[in-house]
Amino acid sequence: MYLDNAATSYPKPEIVYEAVLHAMRDVGASPGRGGYRRSLEAGRIIFQARETVARFFSISDSSRIIFTQNATGALNLALQGTLAAGDHVITTSMEHNSLLRPLYALRNNGVELSIITAGSDGVVSVENIRQAVQANTRMIAVSHVSNVCGAIQPIRELAELCAETGAFFLLDAAQSAGYLPIDVEHLAIDLLAVPGHKGLLGPGGTGLLYVAPHVSLKPVIHGGTGSHSTAEDQPRVVPDGFEAGTHNLPGIAGLRAGIEFILERGLAAGFEHEHALLNQAEQVLRNIPGVTIYGPSDPSARCSVLSFTASGVDSTLLAAELDHGFDIAVRAGLHCAPMAHRTLGTFPGGTVRMSPGWSTTREEIAFFSDAVVQCIDKIRKSA
Ligand code: ALA
Repeated sequence: MYLDNAATSYPKPEIVYEAVLHAMRDVGASPGRGGYRRSLEAGRIIFQARETVARFFSISDSSRIIFTQNATGALNLALQGTLAAGDHVITTSMEHNSLLRPLYALRNNGVELSIITAGSDGVVSVENIRQAVQANTRMIAVSHVSNVCGAIQPIRELAELCAETGAFFLLDAAQSAGYLPIDVEHLAIDLLAVPGHKGLLGPGGTGLLYVAPHVSLKPVIHGGTGSHSTAEDQPRVVPDGFEAGTHNLPGIAGLRAGIEFILERGLAAGFEHEHALLNQAEQVLRNIPGVTIYGPSDPSARCSVLSFTASGVDSTLLAAELDHGFDIAVRAGLHCAPMAHRTLGTFPGGTVRMSPGWSTTREEIAFFSDAVVQCIDKIRKSA
């Protein structure tokens, strides 16, 4: 039983597999790299995918969407493509290494960095962020939803703070895209980094960055774009200049299908389904002596994951017992977010994180909950 949809979603809806196969078997060519019909068809698939992404996130100009390898690729492009020595960035202690490590690297090159510690529930205070704003604050960069505990950050207020101060708002939607509504233009998000393979149900190796029209981006990867071929400098034309090299056509085709599936099902319906499953598991876990659940106490202030520890039980051992004894896949440890775990008080042992998906059933959650009870009991008895 797969309960690690926060790492990557599995299984994908059938139409995603079909779209991948169609792109590979029936089309096969590289988009924008030839004038023959197969290449034009590949180009159409990429264009349609961009349009679908634009519709999903309420973006009026789909050419502002750059396809990347994953959310990490999108974050690196957003950060390295906009920041320079002397700029100041504010972020939070709840961030994943995909945001923090590029920021640490930029700090080594003269970018000033303020990391605001969130509350012990994982939610950051907008007031604390406001107090960190300086004259040279160029960007506020936050994850919408914590990959560790599911805490939802106050992005509306943060977007307003950015608008007020003139800082770019970079939203890392790694754990929220496909779960929560994100209206890019209404919120005035300047940069949105999204994985294709998590909540959007696309294949691995897909992601995207939205760049608002007023944001001037420097390319990070240099290479062939299928156009402006005589230019020695990388063209800064969106999206082509930022998608050097051959596209992941099957992946992008599958990503479009994943989003179409969500649109068909309804974002709210999907959210309700996963939320109900998280609540179901939480009811059982809360009754196990010594179990702590992390993130805001109000379940409606959390999204997509349930993170917990059991006193006297090593989290990685519990995950291994669930895997070997019950064939249940969950992720334990630090989840590539050590500072988030320090904030929650779960460093260095980490937590066990369970994340259901679109196809997870109530019966599976009942099985999981029962398995957790048994595994905790077994580990405690053997200690
Ligand atoms: N960022 C992914 C996770 O939290 C891989 O598991």
